[in-house]
Amino acid sequence: MRNGYEKWGRIVLLIASLGLATLWGIWDGFSPGQEQPRLPRVRKRCQVCHRAETIDWMQSRHARAWVSETFTQATNNRTRTECLHCHAPDRVLVTGFGKEPTLRTELQDHGVDCVGCHEDANEAHHGTLGTKPDEHAVVKNDRFGTVEMCATCHAKFGTVDEFKQTKWAAESPRACVTCHMPEVKRPIAVDKPVRTAHAHTFKGADPETFQKGVRVEATVSGDNLIVKLTSAEVGHNFPTGADLVVAIVDVRLISNGQESLKHQTLLANDAATGGADTRLKPGEVREITIPLQGKKGEAVIRVLHKYLRTLPDEKATVLFEMRKPVD
Ligand code: HEC
Ligand code: HEC
Ligand code: HEC
Ligand code: HEC
Ligand code: HEC
Repeated sequence: MRNGYEKWGRIVLLIASLGLATLWGIWDGFSPGQEQPRLPRVRKRCQVCHRAETIDWMQSRHARAWVSETFTQATNNRTRTECLHCHAPDRVLVTGFGKEPTLRTELQDHGVDCVGCHEDANEAHHGTLGTKPDEHAVVKNDRFGTVEMCATCHAKFGTVDEFKQTKWAAESPRACVTCHMPEVKRPIAVDKPVRTAHAHTFKGADPETFQKGVRVEATVSGDNLIVKLTSAEVGHNFPTGADLVVAIVDVRLISNGQESLKHQTLLANDAATGGADTRLKPGEVREITIPLQGKKGEAVIRVLHKYLRTLPDEKATVLFEMRKPVD
């Protein structure tokens, strides 16, 4: 009899805790009565208290590093083992800044996640503010957010070497963060005071960031269209990163509703195959001259970006678009 009661007791407990778990699942991170987006449950559940950072991070490429269509293609469905560890890293504060991280096995879909960047071997979270929360240990770390930290994953394909040649490197060891994690005034945890915090969207190859960094102008001179690119506020090449990543200056002339001319200029690093590195260097002004062959109409000038050069143009990100009458 006693055994029977114990058994049922356990089952009831089990059902109750399953119910609670489901409730947690539904209410995780929600403040009742407010319409708020559903947040993913990240490792160690940072989202419960750090909502704003989580909402930012969800939109970032760091969050897509493992699941992105182009990464999936380039690694043959993530079977190329030499490619995986930076795209789903374990804690970089355990392996150490400047050393390639190790591949984690938990929640790989979350790519470069909060724990991967913030947590050390003692489960303390590093930052630069020096807060003293009750909820977890904090280590104030002045190397956190320096180029040395970003270099852990971003050095391998040249971005850090490119950066070191620029004036921004001379100005500040935190320049990657200055450009890619702009300051925002907001509470850094639910129900806490406003502080000077940092956007976690890590924007890069999107129209807004590109247009802040690179100026695109077009003029007609005689029978030529001249497209001029000026890299004014980019702390590295455009594009930067692995040589799989390319940009294209795509120009079409439309005459009487028909495409009468098409001209493409590839900005890419072909050094590995014995070709040239035609990426736009920091500070560089590049003029592309397109012969119009006497044709008239309207020129459509676009800058396209692809994370994988074999991706068809239709799937590229359009970083810039303008129209220019040619008559
Ligand atoms: C643990 C490895 C790792 C660390 C550390 C890291 N990154 Fe990244 N980062 C990545 C990976 C992987 C990607 C590519 C994501 C993808 O698949 O698009 C990336 C992409 C980016 C992008 C590209 C956004 C875009 O639009 O394409 C920016 C900007 C960026 N990181 C900035 C930083 C900065 C700034 C730091 C330092 C504070 C940093 N990262 C630290 C791994 C890392
Ligand atoms: C690619 C690395 C990276 C990832 C991923 C990342 N952070 Fe951060 N985080 C930083 C850096 C760098 C700073 C500090 C910037 C500074 O102080 O210069 C920071 C700062 C913070 C701060 C302090 C407030 C602020 O904005 O300065 C909090 C809180 C925080 N992060 C939480 C999170 C949470 C939660 C996640 C996941 C949803 C996350 N971070 C993901 C790099 C990262
Ligand atoms: C139960 C709530 C809670 C959880 C869960 C939580 N934190 Fe925090 N965290 C806080 C509070 C509260 C602060 C301090 C806020 C303040 O003083 O404004 C803080 C501060 C921070 C800071 C700032 C450190 C500094 O002073 O520079 C970072 C970074 C941080 N947390 C990262 C994380 C990460 C990453 C996770 C998940 C692995 C996490 N936290 C989980 C409540 C939490
Ligand atoms: C002066 C501002 C500035 C600095 C400093 C800077 N960046 Fe950028 N970054 C940009 C701009 C603008 C873009 C968009 C144009 C582009 O894609 O290159 C960009 C794009 C990126 C991208 C997406 C690249 C692509 O084309 O796919 C990555 C990754 C990146 N930055 C990482 C870094 C890292 C890591 C550092 C520090 C070593 C850094 N950036 C320093 C302005 C900056
Ligand atoms: C040392 C860390 C590291 C390793 C190892 C690594 N990557 Fe990446 N990967 C990055 C970073 C950082 C970026 C963002 C760079 C940028 O766009 O400037 C990136 C971006 C990419 C992108 C473009 C973004 C996307 O989601 O499509 C592809 C594709 C990619 N990597 C494929 C690979 C392949 C294939 C390998 C193995 C040959 C590999 N990576 C190994 C760090 C790494």
